[in-house]
Amino acid sequence: MRVIAQRASGNIYTSNAYLVLGSWSHLGYVNTLVDVGCDPVLFASLEDAPTGVGKSRVEQVILTHGHYDHCTLLPAVVELYRPPVFAFARCVEGVTNLVGDGETLYLGDRRFTVIHTPGHTEDSICLFSEQDGVLFCGDTPLIINSPGGSYEPGFIRALERLCELDVRSIYFGHGKPLHEGCGRRLRLSLENVRLSFAHGPRHLERTVGGCRRGPPAAVSAGQS
Ligand SMILES: [Fe+2]
Repeated sequence: MRVIAQRASGNIYTSNAYLVLGSWSHLGYVNTLVDVGCDPVLFASLEDAPTGVGKSRVEQVILTHGHYDHCTLLPAVVELYRPPVFAFARCVEGVTNLVGDGETLYLGDRRFTVIHTPGHTEDSICLFSEQDGVLFCGDTPLIINSPGGSYEPGFIRALERLCELDVRSIYFGHGKPLHEGCGRRLRLSLENVRLSFAHGPRHLERTVGGCRRGPPAAVSAGQS
């Protein structure tokens, strides 16, 4: 598996977009774009990627959630490459296939499991490859350095499940990936979330973020 973070201009606020390819060129491997972002530089970046002869550069798109900074270019990506678009919910126009917790999808040459991680938004998912220990997490807040804030029970259960996995690399929706100490960081985050839950509000009355097109409000359970 090859994970290629797509370029961004730096002039537009956008999420990361990751192109996942097989370890070598093979018609059966699925060129997959995880999130599409907002920055049109994406298209030049995709054209430069070694996606294989005779294959579409983008054979499928998977959205980690429906926030605008992860999805704005979706109509243009669909028009250009005609991929199926997978997401947990039909939060944005263009989603063709819904995926549920525990379902599997092939990205590149690897099988990934969908893990529903509500909290940042109700439709947030992570994607995990057991073979490589690779986790795409979107904006699910996985690095929580201190207690405080509010977390819904569903998020805590999801974080508990993530802590049981052998995570060796985390690709975030914003910022650089983490390749060392992932399990330790996840367990520390869970500890802080449990402390927050024990000493703070029992749960959020509403899901933070939700399905919407505009910029999210400031949240305690994660970034945008
Ligand atoms: Fe978000």
